[in-house]
Amino acid sequence: MLLATKLRLGDSNTMMAQGGIQAADKPNDSPPIHYLDVIGGGGFNNTPELVNALVRDAPEAIVWLEDLGVMFDKEIDGTMVTIHGGGTSRKRMHSARDYTGGEIMKTLRDEIKNRGIDYIEFSPAIELLTDDGKCTGAILYNLETDEYVVVRAKTTILATGGAGRLHVQDFPTSNHYGATADGLVIAYRAGNPVIFMDTIQYHPTGVAFPEQIVGLLVTEKCRGLGAQLVNNDGDRFINELETRDVESAAIIKECTEKNKGIKTPTGMLSVWLDTPMIDIIHGEGTIQRKLPAMYRQFQRFDIDMSKEPLLVYPTQHFQNGGITVNEKAETKVPNLYGAGEVDGGVHGRNRLMGNSLLECIVFGRRAGKNAALKEKKIERGKLTLQHIKRYHIELKEANIDADIMSPMLLPDYRRKETIARMIDI
Ligand code: FUM
Repeated sequence: MLLATKLRLGDSNTMMAQGGIQAADKPNDSPPIHYLDVIGGGGFNNTPELVNALVRDAPEAIVWLEDLGVMFDKEIDGTMVTIHGGGTSRKRMHSARDYTGGEIMKTLRDEIKNRGIDYIEFSPAIELLTDDGKCTGAILYNLETDEYVVVRAKTTILATGGAGRLHVQDFPTSNHYGATADGLVIAYRAGNPVIFMDTIQYHPTGVAFPEQIVGLLVTEKCRGLGAQLVNNDGDRFINELETRDVESAAIIKECTEKNKGIKTPTGMLSVWLDTPMIDIIHGEGTIQRKLPAMYRQFQRFDIDMSKEPLLVYPTQHFQNGGITVNEKAETKVPNLYGAGEVDGGVHGRNRLMGNSLLECIVFGRRAGKNAALKEKKIERGKLTLQHIKRYHIELKEANIDADIMSPMLLPDYRRKETIARMIDI
């Protein structure tokens, strides 16, 4: 087994995930109730068998993670702390303070090292290899040595994440630098369909000020704990626990159509997130205890979020769509699997908080198990790029000009606004 990563081992949106991971494991909850929330949040467009897999595996995923060493937040009596996220009808968000993804990734990274699994860093996959339509491996590009590496594999799993760093519609993003849709591109060229590619998720509360951290997340957990969204008149304009599409649309409307936004010192429109409400509701010290990473992130800029509200605006956060897979995490290209944000269908047109950490664990485990079982039954195939020849013929026939190189491994990350403000020195 070989694990190839685009940047360092663990560099991913998972590492940066803050608020939590959903699982229906409390007496007042159940996988069917979780199912209804996911489908409702997704606009009833989700692929039902994927949602079924997600919610059914969820309680066991939490147990598996805890057994590996993930330190979830617990009550004094040892039961898991669970809170609401937007669009959830039950409190089922499990967290490790406000660095849940970091805690999970740290544990999984240790596990990779403990088990002696081979991995290579700074080596993104730039093309799949096929034999008569079946996946037989991948070509990696070593970013440090500029060399191409051919990897022969009986089964291949794509877990390449999302597309935030393509800055769709020039939005800032909460994503890590490797998130440039690489897996989508190479799976599509190998013949796998993609769905819901128009449904980029904008997280309602990205940082709007200070400038140095624009686009980073202010976790939904803040709203789960009672922080309120307020316009320039000091009025609340939305229930803070609506789904993300509704919430983001309301903020954008408040700032544009209604002219009720607040201009930040660097000229961005924004609204207030009244974080001091959290300590008012739950008692002094709650923010420092439950949101320590967030508190420190702002403290570095002399902003005490327990005493003053934050300026926020939606940020590009998640790719709801992606490559199609079935409940075994199999794509339509034989011997190719997909897990995590690269997949589309499970969230329909809009994902709920805490279901992406869950998705990558549930479908990562399913992909791993099914790829390992399949690997025992098949022979190695030839290593060809037949599918690329076919793809180029199709482009030509459709009169599509394909002069942009893809995947865009390391694009110019600067947004138009940043470039416009640059000065020559
Ligand atoms: O707001 C958050 O903590 C984000 C969580 C998620 O996207 O699941």
